[in-house]
Amino acid sequence: MNANDLKRQAALAALAYVEEDTILGVGTGSTTNCFIDLLAEKGIRLKACVSSSKATEQRLRDHGYEVIDLNQAGTIPLYVDGADETDAKRQLIKGGGAALTREKICAAAAQQFVCIVDQSKLVPQLGKFPLPVEVIPMARSLVARELVKLGGDPVYREGVTTDNGNVILDVWHLDITDAKALEQKINNLPGVVTNGLFALRPADRVLIARPDRIDTL
Ligand code: A5P
Repeated sequence: MNANDLKRQAALAALAYVEEDTILGVGTGSTTNCFIDLLAEKGIRLKACVSSSKATEQRLRDHGYEVIDLNQAGTIPLYVDGADETDAKRQLIKGGGAALTREKICAAAAQQFVCIVDQSKLVPQLGKFPLPVEVIPMARSLVARELVKLGGDPVYREGVTTDNGNVILDVWHLDITDAKALEQKINNLPGVVTNGLFALRPADRVLIARPDRIDTL
């Protein structure tokens, strides 16, 4: 079973959480793309979707799903999304696809956040994957200097503009022993929109696809 098969297995497992004719929050990335395609393949009817990115919005619309604004939707019963890393406490690093801010908004608005990953994403401690930080463009250098003071090694993700018109710094070598404290600290830096740590609002369930089974955290 290759990585794509595992992503599809994780996505398949998430279908069990979806209730028809409700509003569904949908994340971004290749695992979530499998989930979107499966929703359509299985003919699952939804009242509407709230999307965490323009790319996901397009894919949902291509499958015939209605996409509405979060302001119109209010609370979302269920949000399904992938992650770049998860630990055993369901704390995540997200943002490899640069959609972290809208993803964090969707997770905050969701009654239940189900995260779908293949087994390679489960780590003993977050931080091998560089932490994405979305930054207002004029604050890029300022924020980078502050991230160095926090022990990180920020790298500007060149050529990438987020759906919100901002830039991304990918921060290597951070010590993420206390993910909640670090999430808060980085979010407090002037110029930071948000960072890719999902520790203050972790996933409620993480579905991990392995070749022979799905593990649920
Ligand atoms: C998007 O910004 C990310 O948070 C994705 O959810 C994350 O990168 C996982 O993507 P894949 O499912 O493509 O690995």
